[in-house]
Amino acid sequence: MKKILVIQYSQTGQLSDVVASICRPLQESKDVEVVIETLEPVKPYPYPWKFFEFLDVFPESVYLDPPELKPLTVSVDEDFDLVIFAYQVWFLSPSLPITAFLKSKAGKQLLENKPVVTVIACRDMWAMAQETVKKMLADMNVRLLDNIVLTDQGSSLASFITTPHWLFTGKKDAFWKFPPAGIADEEIQKACRFGLALLEGINNDCEKNNEPILSGLKVVTADTSLIKSEKIGYRSFRIWGKLIRKAGQPGDARRKPVLVIYIVFLVLMIVTVVPVNMLLKRILAKFSRQKQEAMKQYFEQPSGSGDERMNQFKCH
Ligand SMILES: Cc1cc2nc3c(=O)[nH]c(=O)nc-3n(C[C@H](O)[C@H](O)[C@H](O)COP(=O)(O)O)c2cc1C
Repeated sequence: MKKILVIQYSQTGQLSDVVASICRPLQESKDVEVVIETLEPVKPYPYPWKFFEFLDVFPESVYLDPPELKPLTVSVDEDFDLVIFAYQVWFLSPSLPITAFLKSKAGKQLLENKPVVTVIACRDMWAMAQETVKKMLADMNVRLLDNIVLTDQGSSLASFITTPHWLFTGKKDAFWKFPPAGIADEEIQKACRFGLALLEGINNDCEKNNEPILSGLKVVTADTSLIKSEKIGYRSFRIWGKLIRKAGQPGDARRKPVLVIYIVFLVLMIVTVVPVNMLLKRILAKFSRQKQEAMKQYFEQPSGSGDERMNQFKCH
């Protein structure tokens, strides 16, 4: 019997729902054992968030400065055939509990030399975080087979309002002209196709190869204009993150004035640089199609954005 380890952390339950949908076909099969490990920081992160608490995790998120985790329930001596590694993005970086796992000795023992499928559920800016995770996984000699990405419903502009509203109030419902916050329920349900395809793949020993198992299942779609904004944002996060870390430890009152200046800067940047950059990108894209296409393909690796096998894997 093949054994799959699932690593996850979720504050609102959204990522757990995505993971549950993917794992359902695997858990229903007699050929596979699924072990789900839910990470728990010693000091839990708040949800709903207070404004300053939310901002205060940004420097440590970007500088991959991990919190302490409670001991895992899974034994590090257990051997798994495949790992499903599910995470959310915090400030263009893997969330802090996920970083803590990746940097821990136990994480290394469980992931080293293993085939891994990453699953991301976030607003819509995941590319820089996945670059970071890819580097950390490569250092552990991991074979990254697929990267599944699910993002919040509505336009990027809409989720720029609905996601913070949800995280600060705990309310997901639609309001004004905006759609509900988070990933659409239908998308979450349809994620079970990945579980069906993984089951078929693992039954055929596909995890032993170095090739994607999930290609053709609309695994990911990279938006190059968003990625350009992510690159600019990430650079500014590194600079401001360093300044804020110099001002004090997490939770230190001395951080607040720098955080206030930073948030003013960030909002100004978002309402000016991001739209101008997206517009410029769209205009320039007409003249640099090949470059855009190469960038899109790079960030959609390893599975690609094709949908040719969608009819083959349907859940009921
Ligand atoms: C502190 C914080 C920072 C976040 N930063 C980003 C981000 O940079 N990009 C993004 O797409 N989503 C971002 N999100 C949204 C999360 O990735 C995720 O969609 C949301 O928190 C729900 O995840 P959950 O499964 O933990 O409930 C952020 C959320 C939090 C709490």
